[in-house]
Amino acid sequence: MAETVDFTDRYLRGETPWDSGKPSEELLRVLGAGKLTGRTVLEFGCGTGTNAVELARRGFVVTAVDIAEPAIRIARDKARAAAVAVDFRMADVLKDALGGPYDILFDCGVYHCLRTIDLRRFQEFLRKSTRPGSWWLSMAGNAKEDTDPGPPVVSEDEIRAELGPLFDIVELREFRFTTNTADFRPLGWSILMRRR
Ligand SMILES: C[S@@+](CC[C@H](N)C(=O)[O-])C[C@H]1O[C@@H](n2cnc3c(N)ncnc32)[C@H](O)[C@@H]1O
Repeated sequence: MAETVDFTDRYLRGETPWDSGKPSEELLRVLGAGKLTGRTVLEFGCGTGTNAVELARRGFVVTAVDIAEPAIRIARDKARAAAVAVDFRMADVLKDALGGPYDILFDCGVYHCLRTIDLRRFQEFLRKSTRPGSWWLSMAGNAKEDTDPGPPVVSEDEIRAELGPLFDIVELREFRFTTNTADFRPLGWSILMRRR
């Protein structure tokens, strides 16, 4: 059953445990390993923009979208404060044209939401925004640890069935999300993929 979350309301209320304010440790690990080759990045569901700003700081040309206007407003302020250029846009991944194809897609905590809302449209977005050879790094909740509170979760079999037809799964690793509470670190999947 699809869970409908009013993200705008969550940002306005400050109920955003995922918003740690620090770049994703897992993203930094993958970048450090030199695995994300290319120049253009689309981060979808960028929230308040911490990871998009970090990517821009490292020289990537970054487009970053989110459906929640309050998040995009904060993200733009962050980019200004960091003196980096990020093309932040308020957009719905399941409805709006987002350009591309991009060299790299990145999401932290978005695939695991959108797969339950409209998987077919989400797959169509993935196809349009990438080309053969494009990378996608996705971080999703892990069904081996389904907690409440906690992120939506997905199993390894579901990942392979839903994403495997379009992407080679290069790495599938377990990691723990960083949240805005030190001892709340839900289990996740770090999924590094390359478009077939
Ligand atoms: C769990 S939060 C993660 C935010 C950010 N990636 C982070 O790690 O801080 C999921 C984000 O996806 C955004 N989102 C949800 N559905 C979306 C959609 N259809 N199009 C664009 N953004 C969406 C939400 O507004 C929210 O910011």
